[in-house]
Amino acid sequence: MSYSVKGKRALVTGGSAGIGAAFARELARSGAVVGICARRRQLLDQVLADCQVDSPDSRSWVVDLAELDGIAGFAAQVEAELGGVDILVNNAGIPKRRHIKDLTVAEVDAVNALNYLSPVRLTLALLPGMVARGDGRIVNVSSVAARLGPPREAAYSATKAAITLFSESMAVDLHGTGVTVHVVNPGIIDTELFHLPDNEPTLSDLPAERAEDLATAMREQLENGTFEMFFPSWFKDVAVSKLADEDTFIAGSAEWVAARIKTLEAQG
Ligand SMILES: NC(=O)c1ccc[n+]([C@@H]2O[C@H](COP(=O)([O-])OP(=O)(O)OC[C@H]3O[C@@H](n4cnc5c(N)ncnc54)[C@H](OP(=O)(O)O)[C@@H]3O)[C@@H](O)[C@H]2O)c1
Repeated sequence: MSYSVKGKRALVTGGSAGIGAAFARELARSGAVVGICARRRQLLDQVLADCQVDSPDSRSWVVDLAELDGIAGFAAQVEAELGGVDILVNNAGIPKRRHIKDLTVAEVDAVNALNYLSPVRLTLALLPGMVARGDGRIVNVSSVAARLGPPREAAYSATKAAITLFSESMAVDLHGTGVTVHVVNPGIIDTELFHLPDNEPTLSDLPAERAEDLATAMREQLENGTFEMFFPSWFKDVAVSKLADEDTFIAGSAEWVAARIKTLEAQG
């Protein structure tokens, strides 16, 4: 039987912008009570107002999830104020586009703290309630980078590979408990992520997808129960063929990067 988000209580991290904001609105439109959190109060207020049109009990919290020691207390606060969390959407994340020769230890630590360690801490804090109720959904927003290792994103893609494999193992551990785990692998989505400071410009030449379209696919993924979803779906074919021949993938990627840099230099 298909899962319905109607009446469920969902916590969406990074709900102030981009994919998280789009998915929070999608969940609220579909009848879930939505809790959103992020650092920017003003943006959260706007997204919350949209959610409350369809789901008046939705609410928001200002929190910096990179402050790892605060996460257990934050999770307890959300459970108390939302009455429990049925759907946890670990979405907050930052990019790190940096050539490996220029990458610093501090950058690796920062991206690892937010993209990997914070969703792990939030999951461990909220999982007992889900298991006790025999009902829960954990959605981890990973990336195609978890499966495809893009150039100049070693630190970022490693955090995504880590959360994907954490999810895979957890899904097996939780099999039959009523708590299921889901991984979302966006490709290129039109959000602030490509315009944040302290990152190299993206090398991608792919058209960006709309966050709203990804949000619809994420709701459908929850309904049909699929573990891993690639968006757009053709990225899965690339990941499968890469696994069959890693050496060709690495050589082909390096060739593509060299050609892409020439094109970008020619364009000025
Ligand atoms: N866009 C893409 O093409 C793409 C592709 C693959 C995967 N993803 C993944 O999708 C997720 C969402 O990314 P997005 O594209 O929607 O990026 P975005 O538009 O930059 O949104 C990131 C969200 O995370 C929040 N956030 C950042 N740092 C935070 C912190 N320290 N504490 C709490 N919240 C924090 C931001 O809110 P505040 O700044 O208000 O805190 C914002 O709500 C990320 O995990 C990203 O890695 C995106």
